[in-house]
Amino acid sequence: MNGYPLHPAIVQENKIIGNNISLRNVSTEDAEFIISLRTEGQKGRFISATSSDISAQIKWIDSYLTGSGQAYFIIEDKFSNKLGTIRMYDQNEDSFCWGSWVIKDGAPPQTAIESAMMLYTYALKLGFNRAHFDVRKENLSVRRFHERFGAIMIKENDLDVFYEITKTSILNSMKKYHRFLPNGIRVE
Ligand SMILES: CC(C)(COP(=O)(O)OP(=O)(O)OC[C@H]1O[C@@H](n2cnc3c(N)ncnc32)[C@H](O)[C@@H]1OP(=O)(O)O)[C@@H](O)C(=O)NCCC(=O)NCCS
Repeated sequence: MNGYPLHPAIVQENKIIGNNISLRNVSTEDAEFIISLRTEGQKGRFISATSSDISAQIKWIDSYLTGSGQAYFIIEDKFSNKLGTIRMYDQNEDSFCWGSWVIKDGAPPQTAIESAMMLYTYALKLGFNRAHFDVRKENLSVRRFHERFGAIMIKENDLDVFYEITKTSILNSMKKYHRFLPNGIRVE
């Protein structure tokens, strides 16, 4: 209803354009960028380990591109400079999981919130009604980000905290943070 599909599914998209950034479908040419983003410096501390084997990364991207059920994007600025990554995966009925969220040092500060808002806008457009994700317990700044956005902690174990966010909370935050994505998204 409300123009949203009744049976959501995660689909890959060539490009989703926002305000200052775009989400572009990952290609095998991004393998090196992804490896350096995830393995250099402190960025990899709270995400699953990444092999620095380029051919393994290319193989992974190739199977992603021919597979289904996930959408893995490079976050880019208006000049096609690569700023980071974000991914939707693990659909569970009307809920999707998102993660692989890494933004390189030096990216404009609004990149995080705009990329999250773009992903949520896209997910609602696909018909999803909620999202779920887990965050390393010690990843306090990211936990704070999700909590400010309206995510609710539903369980935890020694390592991770598990969150859910409903469509109502997503829409409330979209209103609150409208200034970061004033014209919504355009899918190309
Ligand atoms: C996760 C990641 C992409 C988030 O990006 P980030 O830039 O650190 O995100 P922040 O929460 O600091 O937000 C950046 C800025 O956006 C703005 N912002 C974010 N949330 C906001 C909100 N709810 N309201 C208003 N402004 C907000 C602020 O300007 C904020 O800067 P400040 O609060 O430090 O002044 C980044 O930290 C990263 O690459 N981490 C390593 C990998 C990782 O841990 N990934 C997550 C795995 S679950």
